[in-house]
Amino acid sequence: MRILLLGSGGREHALAWKIAQSAKCSKLFIAPGNAGTEAVGENVAIGVNDFDRLKDFVVEEKVDMIVVGPEDPLVKGVYDCFKEDSRTANVPVIGPSKAGAVLEGSKDFAKAFMKRHNIPTAAYETFDGTTIEEGMQFLETLKAPYVLKADGLAAGKGVLILPTLEEAKKELREMLGGMFGNASAKVVIEEFLSGIECSVFVLTDGTHYQILPEAKDYKRIGEHDTGLNTGGMGSVTPVPFATKEWMAKVEERIIRPTVEGLKAEGIDYKGFIFFGLINVDGEPMVIEYNCRMGDPETESVMLRLKSDIVDLFEGVAEGNLNQRQIAFDPRSAVCVMLVSGGYPETYKKGYPITGLDKVEGSVVFHSGTAVKDGQIVTAGGRVIAVSSYGENKEEALKKSFAEAQKIDFTDKYFRRDIGQDL
Ligand code: AMP
Ligand code: GLY
Repeated sequence: MRILLLGSGGREHALAWKIAQSAKCSKLFIAPGNAGTEAVGENVAIGVNDFDRLKDFVVEEKVDMIVVGPEDPLVKGVYDCFKEDSRTANVPVIGPSKAGAVLEGSKDFAKAFMKRHNIPTAAYETFDGTTIEEGMQFLETLKAPYVLKADGLAAGKGVLILPTLEEAKKELREMLGGMFGNASAKVVIEEFLSGIECSVFVLTDGTHYQILPEAKDYKRIGEHDTGLNTGGMGSVTPVPFATKEWMAKVEERIIRPTVEGLKAEGIDYKGFIFFGLINVDGEPMVIEYNCRMGDPETESVMLRLKSDIVDLFEGVAEGNLNQRQIAFDPRSAVCVMLVSGGYPETYKKGYPITGLDKVEGSVVFHSGTAVKDGQIVTAGGRVIAVSSYGENKEEALKKSFAEAQKIDFTDKYFRRDIGQDL
């Protein structure tokens, strides 16, 4: 099978690494890819939102399947775009339709969907420019801290957690005034939930589903979860509190009603669902949905997926995912992200990366890299993910930290406390 994967981050390198191991994959293209994906497939210089050129490429190169990494093309309707063109209508796209991607593309839609299907989540209300005063009144009924969410995609920055009512009111006014452009034309205000978070991933064909290994990610730049939010500084799988009993609750109360709800509402959804969960006194609740895999969770989760991922994708395409085998590696896997100094604020790019060839026994996934004059250089805030196995998370982390020391670039930074809160 000839497969085209869309995306260019660490998540896509990890997916590409896994897809390339499948005997069912004869050729793998990654558009646009990065310096790492080039080692497991062929990079194609087409952007993830350039649907016309992607379609032409799929026709010319006789691509049999498209796998979508990031949310942006999904929310923009890449699935529908391929379906509506007679030349590509029969090429399966692993990723939801535009209507399904709204689970991530609109927080208001996601909250209303959960309410309709009795899926546990924080109490909320949604406001827009015409209901600012009602929003202020709703804030007064809540207890601190206050959670404000821009309705639309805001590159991971659209959630504000404010310690005081005054700040919450001020930010609500600014958000509705265009702080995140059109993304904050509507704002969800919700009850603050206290607990530890966990990411659960499901692959669905629209009727059946398979649950992948769960993971925890580390979002803040500083150790002990301090400082600004980032795209993710590391991840750990399995998550100790995600016991069999807890996962049974997740499946019963959250996963099944979500998949059944999508189907009942006539939403075409063939792809990954990412459940951002929080454990509130032992009970799982949904913080958010994403319509794709997580980053950097994929960089550890793929290490634990023993099954052939292309076989699972075929199950999604054919609607018989229930007949496919899914097996996990019982070991722990972790990912430690090496980032550019200054990230997530301003940082420099283009520094040569050395020592990649010295890494042994860990898997290196490129996140933000490029090739310049034959040399691999930094090309993003998050640069390299060092992923490792271990009999337990401590062993896996020790391995990743040791290998991370061998890789160098100017102003390299990584968190040394990944996994320590678990
Ligand atoms: P989101 O973009 O929805 O994942 O939100 C970003 C982060 O904000 C989450 O990962 C949580 O850490 C936090 N968060 C979002 N909603 C809530 C909530 N209702 N209660 C507590 N924390 C929240
Ligand atoms: N790790 C969180 C995300 O991918 O959105």
